[in-house]
Amino acid sequence: MGIQIAPSILSADFANLESEIQRIHGADLVHVDVMDNHFVPNLTLGLPVVEAILQRTELPVDCHLMIEDPDRWAPAYAEAGAHNVTFHAEAAAAPIRLAREIRGQGARAGVGLKPATPVEPFEDLLAEIDMLLVMTVEPGFGGQRFLDICLPKIRRAREMVSKSGLDVWIQIDGGVSKDTIERCADAGADVFVAGSAVYGADDAAAAVEELRRLASE
Ligand code: DX5
Ligand code: ZN
Repeated sequence: MGIQIAPSILSADFANLESEIQRIHGADLVHVDVMDNHFVPNLTLGLPVVEAILQRTELPVDCHLMIEDPDRWAPAYAEAGAHNVTFHAEAAAAPIRLAREIRGQGARAGVGLKPATPVEPFEDLLAEIDMLLVMTVEPGFGGQRFLDICLPKIRRAREMVSKSGLDVWIQIDGGVSKDTIERCADAGADVFVAGSAVYGADDAAAAVEELRRLASE
């Protein structure tokens, strides 16, 4: 698939989501952060808002569920038409069953890992998923500082995926900017979420293109 840039609307103006998503034309995916105030200490939006977004954009929607009990809630995001549905490994009771349900609804299934969650236990699961999300900040808020200590995990994830021969995307999320994206691309990430680095720019579409250029070098 190659390099993909997924701006996170967490840093957008929530009162004007339609026009905020139009600002990122040229992006590959629109990343939507669902937070429930339990899995993370922040509350954002849920299924009704995702359904509204799906009606107003042609971009594939990448749902990042930072919620407890994804086994119960995640399949509905796939059924609604999300392109990717990522649940957290730390929250899922039955990740294999859940990934199969998400795929069964026609979406790509992603597993998210917080910075302190090791990637190795997921080696045997790779055939069941379409994306590994390696968080590069503690999930919950935009605008945090990139955690360099996550780079070796990105490398190990890339080694695992290469060895498997499977088409599993490696997404990173948190603190991605023009200062950090090259290190992540070198380590083997191929899907880059960026919130403040895109929405904090005057020209969001140009920021997307600059990130793409840096990641592709
Ligand atoms: C944080 C979210 C991110 C967030 C990233 O928990 O998952 O998607 O929007 O924001 P930046 O790019 O500003 O670190
Ligand atoms: Zn996210």
